[in-house]
Amino acid sequence: MDVSAKKQTASDLPPAAAEAVESAQREKDEFLSLVAHELKTPLTPLKTVAQLIRMRVRRARDGSRELDVESLDKNAAMIERQVDRMDRLVTDLLEVSRAAQGRFVLRAAPFDVAAVARDVVRRWSEASEETEDRHHLEIDAPETLPLVGDQERVRQLIGSLIGNAIKFSPSGGLVDVRVAGDDGVVTVSVRDAGIGIAPEEIPAIGREPFATRERTKNYAGLGIGLYLARLVAEGHGGRLRLASAGEDRGTTATVTLKDMPTEEATATTL
Ligand SMILES: Nc1ncnc2c1ncn2[C@@H]1O[C@H](COP(=O)(O)OP(=O)(O)OP(=O)(O)O)[C@@H](O)[C@H]1O
Ligand SMILES: [Mg+2]
Repeated sequence: MDVSAKKQTASDLPPAAAEAVESAQREKDEFLSLVAHELKTPLTPLKTVAQLIRMRVRRARDGSRELDVESLDKNAAMIERQVDRMDRLVTDLLEVSRAAQGRFVLRAAPFDVAAVARDVVRRWSEASEETEDRHHLEIDAPETLPLVGDQERVRQLIGSLIGNAIKFSPSGGLVDVRVAGDDGVVTVSVRDAGIGIAPEEIPAIGREPFATRERTKNYAGLGIGLYLARLVAEGHGGRLRLASAGEDRGTTATVTLKDMPTEEATATTL
């Protein structure tokens, strides 16, 4: 990169504009380092677990220890979790980039939201047990709840709300998921007893991608989960709402979803 050329451009500008260019450049650099960091984080445990597996295999081969299939399975589960995490991150980044270009397309088909929500809760519960995170997840949902919409996007959305509830509340906390349908409107809400959100911060959350709060800057995440959740909710004729009684008083994230028209894929350029 030609840094000198860039410097020259900035210094040719009036001071206020030059400052704006430099600050935009700084933001971009910080953002890149944040993305690189997020992508790198899962690599260390992946490498460690690969080495562990090889050691187990070596010992089994030379006869010094029997192959422990249970442990191997745990190692594989951890690889799966870390790869899922990276996959989610890259997929989310691609989704944000699509949305920025007005190419964020939702594909509608009938599916059962209650089944999807139960499945997402089951997966998070398993992950929570495996990592000894000890959050307790509960779900209250009807047997079935049909919706015409983008099943994969709705699955990600519910996962993202649960992920936030777990991330922003202490280990051992209760995460309460409710799914209900009334008058053609499906409501999914996720409540936690975590760090909460100050009332004045609520309106801005999920409006712009990559906007995280000062209070949560030490938590993992790029600040795209709720931005995408809002896009998906609005693409289903619904909305995303956050409620909190204040800092350290827990948060409830609620989305409403309605049937999408099925005739064709519906593009949302929200
Ligand atoms: N359950 C919650 N409790 C407290 N704060 C929350 C909760 N959910 C979201 N937030 C706040 O809203 C911000 C935006 O949430 P969002 O899910 O978009 O980003 P993230 O979780 O930080 O990163 P990502 O979802 O991209 O991994 C968070 O950084 C956090 O400050
Ligand atoms: Mg999130």
